Amino acid sequence: MPPDRARIHAVVNQKGGVAKTTTAVNLATALAATGRRTLVVDLDPQGNASTGLGIAADRRRMGAWDLMLARARLGDVAMGTDIAGFDLVPSTERLFGAEIELAGEPSRETRLRDALAGAAQRYDYVLIDCPPSLGFLTINALTAAARVLVPLQTEFLALEGLVLLKQTVEAVRAALNPRLSYAGILLTMSDRRNRLSVEVEADVRGHAEFGRFVYDTVIPRNVRVSEAPSHGKPVIVYDMKASGSQAYIRFAGEFLRREEGAP
Ligand SMILES: Nc1ncnc2c1ncn2[C@@H]1O[C@H](COP(=O)(O)OP(=O)(O)OP(=O)(O)O)[C@@H](O)[C@H]1O
Ligand SMILES: [Mg+2]
Repeated sequence: MPPDRARIHAVVNQKGGVAKTTTAVNLATALAATGRRTLVVDLDPQGNASTGLGIAADRRRMGAWDLMLARARLGDVAMGTDIAGFDLVPSTERLFGAEIELAGEPSRETRLRDALAGAAQRYDYVLIDCPPSLGFLTINALTAAARVLVPLQTEFLALEGLVLLKQTVEAVRAALNPRLSYAGILLTMSDRRNRLSVEVEADVRGHAEFGRFVYDTVIPRNVRVSEAPSHGKPVIVYDMKASGSQAYIRFAGEFLRREEGAP
């Protein structure tokens, strides 16, 4: 059973290029395919989720920034994608200046939370694709979210990055969002022929604190995944048989079991 109100997940890792956007877009595609109404909020000024779904910058007149300014409502900025049941709030360039433009404004950390309050009527899941930083936009996402989903590349220093992320989650919990919890940690771009990748996976799974959050599913490095965005499609749609697509489909099943309990 889908949750009875929209469950908002922030897809977060301050490290760049660890597959946050790829995970948000493909998880949303798989969730929509199961009939869950899903919204991706592209909160990254780079706009990779929007572009990767085939929505070019000149088609994005309004987006997450207008929501945060309360200049538009969710229904006005959410646009359909080619995938039934999958909507997108695009990113616009104005997001680049968001932190400075809102400096000194009241309730600046709760802007996104307030803007998404109406999401419950329309969506089962909301996935917020965060930029690679723990700054103002990510704080807004963590304040709006119920759960944190962390894509983690199996590489050197992966655990150090998690410690910093954890401190931010704790700070947001203490000041802004006491009910924030972890959805899980998804290991991405894994190459099991590479010894370091295997060792890092073992370290993260064995970690006293983070180990229990790690999903069983691991996303392999797969060239089809990296080709898909330039075709404006999630890899699951671009090439469903690719190993990366199959892994994301398996991940969506595991994600749903964790979120909604066993079928
Ligand atoms: N499993 C994979 N195999 C091969 N390439 C991948 C895989 N996952 C992601 N990529 C590619 O790696 C790059 C980074 O992925 P993505 O944009 O999803 O990361 P990100 O964490 O959102 O990056 P940023 O921090 O810049 O927002 C992209 O070019 C993407 O297509
Ligand atoms: Mg990204």
